[in-house]
Amino acid sequence: MIVEKVHAPSFPLSRGGLKRLCILPRDKNPTGSLFIVLHPIFLKPSPFNKLIYLSVIIILISLSACDRDNNSTGYTYFPDMVDSRAYEAYSENPNFADRSTMRQPPEGTIARGYMPLPYTKDLEDRTLAGKELKNPYDYTEENLARGKVMFERICFNCHGPHGDGKGYLYTSGLFPFPPASLVNRKVDSIPDGEIFHTITYGYGVMGAHGSIVRPDDRWKIILYIRKELQGIK
Ligand code: HEC
Repeated sequence: MIVEKVHAPSFPLSRGGLKRLCILPRDKNPTGSLFIVLHPIFLKPSPFNKLIYLSVIIILISLSACDRDNNSTGYTYFPDMVDSRAYEAYSENPNFADRSTMRQPPEGTIARGYMPLPYTKDLEDRTLAGKELKNPYDYTEENLARGKVMFERICFNCHGPHGDGKGYLYTSGLFPFPPASLVNRKVDSIPDGEIFHTITYGYGVMGAHGSIVRPDDRWKIILYIRKELQGIK
């Protein structure tokens, strides 16, 4: 920035002391410099001008405290613990040998409220889950109501409101493969654990729904299918 002294004819301060701030056209200003043309009244050594220049310097210093880099707090006068000194989740950490701030849980740890399932997606494990897993929930009104809500949120679109496989995704032609009927003799007779395994890991063309349906909701959906759709309980 070049502040250029020009001897312009004086005019009253009320019309604006800073006469103009201009960027000259390219051909007249090959370096692209910004010229600030000051009114001569600002060039006199008066107490008023000293105040103006002092304020400009203070403003410039305060602006220099602003920092566009999100990883730096810039310069702060008395930060008073505004910025956390803790290591950020993904930042490097010199206190650990592997330099990672996020730590691995000790081996064998499981999240609170979560029970890992000792099965894989394959059919043998589905049969095994059918033998080993029992529905821990009872046919209470509350459980059935929750099962209905979750069935209608997740399964309904494919398997249909009556569980017969005529859900909107299929009847509208958006989903090309016919979803299984949940109210035929086959699904009537498979154990709860197999349906639980199916919801968790998927089955054939049906994808896994374990990540979007909590284990307790899976069991409640099964209660709902048994009682309200199959009508066998
Ligand atoms: C995106 C569509 C879709 C959604 C959503 C879906 N399913 Fe399925 N489901 C299918 C299809 C398709 C099949 C048949 C898979 C095959 O035979 O390859 C199937 C099969 C099944 C079977 C196996 C039936 C058998 O023959 O053993 C069960 C049980 C089942 N689904 C239950 C559910 C439940 C409970 C939900 C909700 C949590 C659900 N499905 C959500 C499409 C879906």
